[in-house]
Formats: sequence, structure tokens, C-alpha cells
Amino acid sequence: MGFPIVSRGRDHYFQRVQTPSQYVVTFLESVGRRQDAEYYLRLFRELPKASFAVIATESDVLQRSPASVAESLRFLARMDLYPVLATGLLAGAGDSGLDQLQGALTEHGIPWASVAQGQRDWIDVARTAVATGASSIVDFGKTETTSRFAALSELLVGLGTRKLVVLRDRGGLGPRERGRISLTPTHHLIIGESGISVINLRADLSALEAGNYLDPVEARLLGDINQLHQASPQLLTSIASPLNLLRELFTIRGAGTLVKTGSSIMRLSGFDELDFERLCELLQTTFEKSLTPQFAQRETLNVYLEASYRGVAILQPGIVGAFLTKFAVNKKAQGEGIGRDLWEAVLRDHSAVYWRARTANPVSEWYQGECDGMHREGEWRVYWRGIPPTQIADTIRDALARPVDLVSIER
Ligand SMILES: CC(C)(COP(=O)(O)OP(=O)(O)OC[C@H]1O[C@@H](n2cnc3c(N)ncnc32)[C@H](O)[C@@H]1OP(=O)(O)O)[C@@H](O)C(=O)NCCC(=O)NCCS
Repeated sequence: MGFPIVSRGRDHYFQRVQTPSQYVVTFLESVGRRQDAEYYLRLFRELPKASFAVIATESDVLQRSPASVAESLRFLARMDLYPVLATGLLAGAGDSGLDQLQGALTEHGIPWASVAQGQRDWIDVARTAVATGASSIVDFGKTETTSRFAALSELLVGLGTRKLVVLRDRGGLGPRERGRISLTPTHHLIIGESGISVINLRADLSALEAGNYLDPVEARLLGDINQLHQASPQLLTSIASPLNLLRELFTIRGAGTLVKTGSSIMRLSGFDELDFERLCELLQTTFEKSLTPQFAQRETLNVYLEASYRGVAILQPGIVGAFLTKFAVNKKAQGEGIGRDLWEAVLRDHSAVYWRARTANPVSEWYQGECDGMHREGEWRVYWRGIPPTQIADTIRDALARPVDLVSIER
């Protein structure tokens, strides 16, 4: 399969009229949504170059279709995004596919540097190659089989990698028939056409292992990935088919199995149970605003706090149910899934919630999918979920009348 970008005439057209960022967004619009592509592009660009991604490819994929991987990498190179490529990690029928990958990259004009795992300063060599605009290829084929994932873990920790993509012919993990796996009567995993959509290691791993839902090879792979996440909790791992590499990187839904560490969320009843200064720091840096002195006196119903103060959701008593007054995840940790974990913790305890957001807030798209209804007024949107219809008008009035706790920083 080939992406349309390999056609020379079309490339030429894009070079003339579009910047690389417009180019990726235009292309990704055809597989996902424009805002999502822009959102991920911004996230990737904010990272140190070498932390962007490590892509580990099954040797069978490289032996059979190295060009499909190279085409996606060429696309990334045009965005000035260079992943570290890992070969020889995943068992395959023959050799690691290193030669095929090198050949395909050269053919597609993608600069690359070869790094032998274990050589002196191998992680620094890989980092330098990426920083200077080349993909580095780290071959694990000659590493002792039992030490390969430990060596990969060293690499991920050393580079501060945000995304690990494992490319397999089979795509994601688990069964393929759309539906769900019920780990318990109330704990389900959604299955898409390419396997289980999301696995939260903290919440799902032990039940998934106990239920024997994965074949032994996949169960071992997930166990190895779990070890990687223990050492690099910021990591997001995608297991996908090589045909879906770009979709996996640039769309919210992805196209394989997304594995995330899962966060430890504490449920507190008020500010006296936490470090108030740390909480203020989290809110002020995330919103880039100052908290008013009155904030300390606000009555709280529950505070859901990520254990390392990377994210928080604060609920106040509502006229019915609860009013979500603050929802924030530290900029560095955004996109890792902490917001989703906080959100689920809130919904587990509160069947009726309402909240408000400024119209321009980019997260409003997501809120729209999570709410039962929304009302727009002035600069605000008010959302509700689980509120009885007869009380919606009152909750809207109440949400709009609540004081503002965060004000612009005076410069
Ligand atoms: C809103 C916020 C708390 C989300 O936290 P996060 O940890 O980045 O969120 P996650 O990675 O868990 O993503 C949660 C969901 O939101 C979606 N999302 C998050 N930011 C998004 C954005 N800018 N545009 C589109 N979707 C977005 C994700 O796709 C994800 O959807 P899914 O779980 O259905 O797949 C965080 O972006 C933030 O603190 N923003 C600044 C403060 C703010 O505006 N708070 C809301 C005030 S009303």
C-alpha cells in the first residue's frame, strides 16, 4: 500500500503551496480530524526531538514490505520528526530485517544512522542522530534474546521517549471481532477491528492476564511492555499494523491497541487533605492564570488528584449533583491519558455532573462527546450529564453565575 504523497507531481504541488505542517494536516484530514492532527503535531513539536517516538518493527514486516514503513517515515521526515527505529526485538521467521529497512530508507531519501545496541554511548549516539535530522536505527538482533526488552527500556528511559509504536502484521492485541471483553460485569474493554482499543495497565492488566484473552505470544509482549511502562510511566505504546502507523500517531482514536500506564488517582474530600501550594501551582501553570485569594475558601465536594500532582478534577456541591469547577492536567503530562483517568474517577462517583468551559477552549470538542447536552451563552458553554430534564435550566443558570477563580496574570 502506498500513501498518495509518493507521487512526484503531487509532492511538487504541495512543496509549492503548502508548508510541511499544512501538508500533514491536509493528508491526515483524510484519515482523521483536522483538530486532532494539529493537536498531536503541536504535542510532538513541544518535545525534545529525541523523545518523539521509538518504532519497533517485527522482522516479518520489514522482510515483506519495508517500503510501507519507509513511506510513513518519509512523511514524518517532512514534518522534521525523526523516530528511533528498533529492529530485531520481535521474533520473526528470519533475520531482523535490518538490511531491508536500511535499503528502503536510502531508496526513499530518508537520512539514517546505524547504532549497534551496547556499543559505547549507544543511547547518546542515537539521540545525536535524531537531533541532527536523521532516523537512528538501533539493532537488537545481536543482543541476548532475554535482555532485549531490558535494553529497550534503557533506551526509552535515556531518551525520555513519549511514544513507542510496535508494528506487527497482525496489528493490535487480542480478538478482532468488534464488541467487548467483559473482565467483570462492570469492567469492559472495547474491541475494534484491529484488536483491543485501549489497555490501561494499572486497571486492566491483571484481569486481562487472568482471563486468558491473549494468546501466549501476545501475553508475553504485553508483559514486556508493562515492564517498559514501569520504568517510563510517561510512555504511551501503540501496537498496530504498519499500514496504520500515521493514523496511530496523529489521530485520537488510533488504529490498533493503545497501551497506557494508567494513573494513580486519589479521591480527597477537601483542600486540607492535600498540599495546597502544589495544587495552586498545578492550576496556575496549566491555565497560565492566577488564582484569586477566594479560591482557598471554596467549598469542595471531592478533589480527584493524580498522586504526583500532575492532574486534578475539583467538584463543588451543585444545586443538583456536582459542579465540576476545575479540570486540569499539567502541560507536560497532557495527552498521556491522565485527563481520561480523572474523568472516569469522577463519573464513577457522580452520576449527575455539570460544568462550564470557555467557548474557545480546544477541549470543548471532547466535552461534547461526554455530555448529555450543552448550552452556549456569551463566552461560556455549559455542559451537563445525568441531570434530570426538569433541572437543566437551573443548573445552566447556576453554572453561569459561579464566580471566576482564575484571572489573567498581570505583566
Ligand atoms: C483538558 C485536559 C484536562 C485534558 O487532559 P489530558 O490528560 O491531556 O487528557 P487525556 O490525554 O486523558 O485525553 C482525554 C480526552 O480528551 C481528548 N483531548 C484532550 N485534549 C484535547 C484537545 N486539545 N483537542 C481535542 N481533544 C482533546 C483526548 O483525545 C481524549 O479523548 P479520549 O479519552 O476519548 O480518547 C488538559 O488538556 C488541560 O489541562 N487543559 C488545560 C486546562 C483546561 O482547559 N481545562 C479544562 C477547563 S474547562
